[in-house]
Amino acid sequence: LILLCAAPVRAAITEADYQRVVDEAYSKYKDLKEGANADYIPILATVPSEMFGVVIVTREGKVYSAGEMDYEFSIQSVSKPFTASLIMAEQGAKTLREKIGVEPTGLPFNSKMALELYPERSVNPLVNAGAIAAVSLVQASSEEDRWNKVLGNIEAYAGRDLKVLEEVYKSEYETSWSNRGIANLLYNYERLYSDPEEALRVYTRQCSIGINTRDLGMMGATLANEGVNPVTGKRVLDKEDVPELLAIMATAGFYDESGEWMYRAGLPAKTGVGGGIVAVVPGKFAIATFSPPLNEAGNSVRGLRAIGYIAAELGVGLY
Ligand code: DON
Repeated sequence: LILLCAAPVRAAITEADYQRVVDEAYSKYKDLKEGANADYIPILATVPSEMFGVVIVTREGKVYSAGEMDYEFSIQSVSKPFTASLIMAEQGAKTLREKIGVEPTGLPFNSKMALELYPERSVNPLVNAGAIAAVSLVQASSEEDRWNKVLGNIEAYAGRDLKVLEEVYKSEYETSWSNRGIANLLYNYERLYSDPEEALRVYTRQCSIGINTRDLGMMGATLANEGVNPVTGKRVLDKEDVPELLAIMATAGFYDESGEWMYRAGLPAKTGVGGGIVAVVPGKFAIATFSPPLNEAGNSVRGLRAIGYIAAELGVGLY
């Protein structure tokens, strides 16, 4: 009895807790000056570095926010799990595993070496190679059809119509030599399933979709809600496929920093060089942040700290 009484019992999380931790994470990290905007996509260097937004969206669609919620930033790599989800929805989780792979590379997101190192050229859909391959695998009759499916799927996750930030698209496509190399290498190894330049264009457009911090929270909340958008009620992914997708996010969402991330927060998550991060507490809620300055691995510095803080405060790390 004494032992039972002494065991730490965590009280259920209340609405007030959600708003408190979001406010605290925002004020704790808003003045942090570490990291720098991505500049290998030239236009990303011009996004104001001080912008910072933190949001929790619950599986019921309730929103708790602090900071920047309106600015539309480019989704970049945060789009990758959602297009992986489209492949699962269209063709099943097995196809994703066999035709792309699910193994973390432990290497930077744009690694060409990863393609040479692993048997069967298997990577995972969260690094550039696997994400370009995922776009090429979408069932489509034309480039336009491929694009409409990719965009429509991300819109279904966000629960609203979205637009491409054309300046970001132009800036990235004009400087896409590294990704073009990856697409061509994959094609050479029969691990790309459409014309390489078409896959590169659609992938680059996907990365240039504009979203705000709240949209990102809603996308994560759809995964927290077992594949159903909490506001529109639309199912985007079968319930059975959600754990597989979250597993890939847990092992590869932060690239070569994924181990460090699991150690810090213990949650499946995905980052992007536009400054977005989304983390999912399965069956409960999502935490999303936006802040452009990145660390060496390409992950938002204020964002990863803020999410780590919230996960610890609410005691929701999975491990
Ligand atoms: O392909 C690229 O390099 C970018 N469109 C996306 C990379 C990215 O977001 C990596 N994330 N941290």
